[in-house]
Amino acid sequence: MILPIVKYGAAVLEQPTRSVEKFGAELAKLTEDMFESMYAARGVGLAAPQIGLNLNLAVVDVTSGKNPEAKLVLANPVIVHSEGEQREEEGCLSVPGFRGNVLRPAYVTMRAQDANGKEYEMKGEGLLARAFCHEIDHLHGTLFLMHLSMLKRDLIKRKIRKLTKTGEW
Ligand code: NI
Repeated sequence: MILPIVKYGAAVLEQPTRSVEKFGAELAKLTEDMFESMYAARGVGLAAPQIGLNLNLAVVDVTSGKNPEAKLVLANPVIVHSEGEQREEEGCLSVPGFRGNVLRPAYVTMRAQDANGKEYEMKGEGLLARAFCHEIDHLHGTLFLMHLSMLKRDLIKRKIRKLTKTGEW
């Protein structure tokens, strides 16, 4: 089931999330819906707050569905190690139409639980490292906009306010 994606301005996007404590069929179904919604929106990551859920849960697939093994469920994820730097353009399904340069670590080791509650660790570099950081930010109520210069951020916020007024957001 494709779920609607919440856009910037919704309070749920800027709040910390509750831990995932219950694993099982219901959570597995939710993560499958999140993958489906993410693929439909052509994203490489989706966090639960983006579908209006205050839950410490995200899905990532930097192959956009091409490799089933690249489908990652991140329940209660933490970054345990990061190294280096990369600066690339980044966007977010909750801030459609806007992108900006964000400095992220080049290498990240992430620890999380999968849809069954099993703990795992995964190393990522490049886009995967960026996706881990971006999604874990979401789970702390932080959007990529917070990593932009104040000037760039204010410009985007002003444009969004205008779009909101005309009902286009
Ligand atoms: Ni995002």
